[in-house]
Amino acid sequence: MFKEDELRKLLKTSIFGQNLFYFNEMDSTNSYLMNLARQGAPEGTLVITDFQTSGKGRQNRVWQSPPGKNLLFSLLLRPELSIEFVRKITLATSSVLAESIEQYLHKNHLPPVHIHLKWPNDLLIDQKKLAGILSESVLHNKDISFLVIGIGLNLNATKQDFSPDLKELATSLFEYTGHEIEREKLLARFLTYYEKAYVHWERTFYEGVVDRWKKRCRQFHTPIRVHTVEGTEEATFEDIDSSGYLIYKNSSGRTKQLISGEVTCF
Ligand code: BTN
Repeated sequence: MFKEDELRKLLKTSIFGQNLFYFNEMDSTNSYLMNLARQGAPEGTLVITDFQTSGKGRQNRVWQSPPGKNLLFSLLLRPELSIEFVRKITLATSSVLAESIEQYLHKNHLPPVHIHLKWPNDLLIDQKKLAGILSESVLHNKDISFLVIGIGLNLNATKQDFSPDLKELATSLFEYTGHEIEREKLLARFLTYYEKAYVHWERTFYEGVVDRWKKRCRQFHTPIRVHTVEGTEEATFEDIDSSGYLIYKNSSGRTKQLISGEVTCF
């Protein structure tokens, strides 16, 4: 079971996780926090669970995670920024999450791993998914009213814990390091580090965030499939623009910007 008190002790934050909800089991931390946010919950509200009965992934997929082994949580952000920053905020979250994981392993003398980022916000080790981020936003005119950032991070799951269709596609930190990861410690590190970065980025309008994200991306100039509401097309991953959107070249050589959709690799 997740040790909520332990997390409170370890947190060195003044906003993130100060308003904290933990449930043994629930439908989805994102759904729960979206409701709290609509009722006016403060910035930094955190919802954690050991098991989700309706865990949500991107593109209406289901997020599966065995009970009590991984991290499943959602964080409420209320940045005073316009909607063009939504994409950058999620890119920033994945960079900080990757950095926090690598730091955790280093500080705890565990074998290092190298985490890559896949657009828009997957964390991968050796092309296998380590974590996914689902960000849901409510906008007011041209401004962000709030953002719920939901993170599913595979920490202690073993091969047997993944369903047959996920075995080849997903991985966990335990699989790579052979050591059990302390969920409370890793989450506290991430929240502490993220809060500092978040406060700084809100002041500097997320300057440098896209370049920081790009350093961990290995997709440039590789063939991809782009899935949008209009259908699927084969393309080449070209770049990420300054707002954080994917730029790709389709099979007729046209350069396009992907605002919303999914990318798969060959
Ligand atoms: C993805 O499809 O890659 C995003 C997965 C996000 C899963 C997390 S688990 C905690 C939070 N609550 C949810 O229902 N989903 C997110």
